Amino acid sequence: MNLLAGKRILLGVTAGIAAYKAPDVVRRLRDQGAEVRVVMTHSAAKMVAPTVFQAVSGHPVRLSLWDEQAEAAMGHIELARWADYVVIAPATAHVLAELANGLAGDLLTTLCIVTRAPIVVAPAMNHSMWLSGATQANRARLAGRGVLFVGPGTGSQACGESGPGRLAEPAEIVQVLTDHANAGRSGLLAGLHVLVTAGPTREPIDPVRFLSNRSSGKMGFAVAEAAAAAGARVTLVAGAVSLPTPAAVERIDVESAAQMNDAVMSRAQRTDIYIGAAAVADYRPVSAPSQKIKKNSDSLDLHLVKCPDILAGVAALDNGPFTVGFAAETERLEEYALDKLRRKGLGMIVANLVGDNIGFDRDDNSAMIFWPGGQEDICCMSKADMAAVIIARVADRYRTARSKVTPLPRTRTS
Ligand code: CTP
Repeated sequence: MNLLAGKRILLGVTAGIAAYKAPDVVRRLRDQGAEVRVVMTHSAAKMVAPTVFQAVSGHPVRLSLWDEQAEAAMGHIELARWADYVVIAPATAHVLAELANGLAGDLLTTLCIVTRAPIVVAPAMNHSMWLSGATQANRARLAGRGVLFVGPGTGSQACGESGPGRLAEPAEIVQVLTDHANAGRSGLLAGLHVLVTAGPTREPIDPVRFLSNRSSGKMGFAVAEAAAAAGARVTLVAGAVSLPTPAAVERIDVESAAQMNDAVMSRAQRTDIYIGAAAVADYRPVSAPSQKIKKNSDSLDLHLVKCPDILAGVAALDNGPFTVGFAAETERLEEYALDKLRRKGLGMIVANLVGDNIGFDRDDNSAMIFWPGGQEDICCMSKADMAAVIIARVADRYRTARSKVTPLPRTRTS
């Protein structure tokens, strides 16, 4: 089935060397049955001739807000509303900065500010530009607004250097769109919004030090990916990890438990399922001085206070989402997991043993899933396979829980 059949896709091309790959994106989108219109920046048009895009898209290319003839045929507001998706490939550091700041100085950025369609960006730039504080802040800001990122890939670059900043492959860009178009059409979680947390939090001690843990975030990212593959709209709140964002998943990056709590609580009421896979700090330093702590004394006392228990907070919401917790234990797995299930009033908990060479930062895993009245062993499989099993069980328990007239029993949380 051509999942993009009939979809109207506006492709924005900005001035990266990788613009030469963008005609291939157009061709692949059209192969999937999409209608594509191309908007280029003036600088991009110096790199690849607009006639190339006109030939592959079958439509004249738009370059300017001031093109009277084009505006008469389809005004820019109309064009922005025409699109089912806006894709920018390649997206330069400059266009990311413009979008992050809501600038609308040319046709492409004006279209982006008007459109209500999902925006997908495929950044491409020198690795130092990509890793710069400004670009990363712009990326986080855009991701926080729901802009979907694909890539960049890592490898050798046109400038002769190597690192992250290569345009994602055209096939990958098209895949993000087909995954997004597929979400909600079919699958165990079709039509549902799933909120997932992943990775460790960092609790600042001073401007250069923090308390954290060994979580890699791989399990939570795999769960987010499996939920998207099951047709859900997925929002992933990620702690400090550098994993790539799964296709068609909205990602929000946070650092501390307090930031994660804010990101989750502001969305939880509007979600169907909450999956707390993050390794949230239980305690944080009561305060973090604004200057680096100097080693002036032989000992140092850190006064810690409890962080908000995000999972318990979500589970306690009136009309809140179906809530799934994770438990990483070093001993008495079943006893501690069942205690958390009851104490926090969860719909389900996934528990695994951690310690030397098990659990953390590995690609495979074993776990037990518990829910009120049942349990299941999942043994020795990749985190991706395990995530698919967890999502299948979540879908099953979600439907059972929602079909009951009375809410699940909930005990007080400590
Ligand atoms: N969790 C959370 N907020 C916290 C701590 C934990 O949301 N401040 C969530 C985790 O995302 C995970 C689950 O709670 O889903 C298990 O965390 P864990 O720290 O093992 O649970 P605790 O109840 O804090 O128990 P323990 O005494 O083992 O630390």
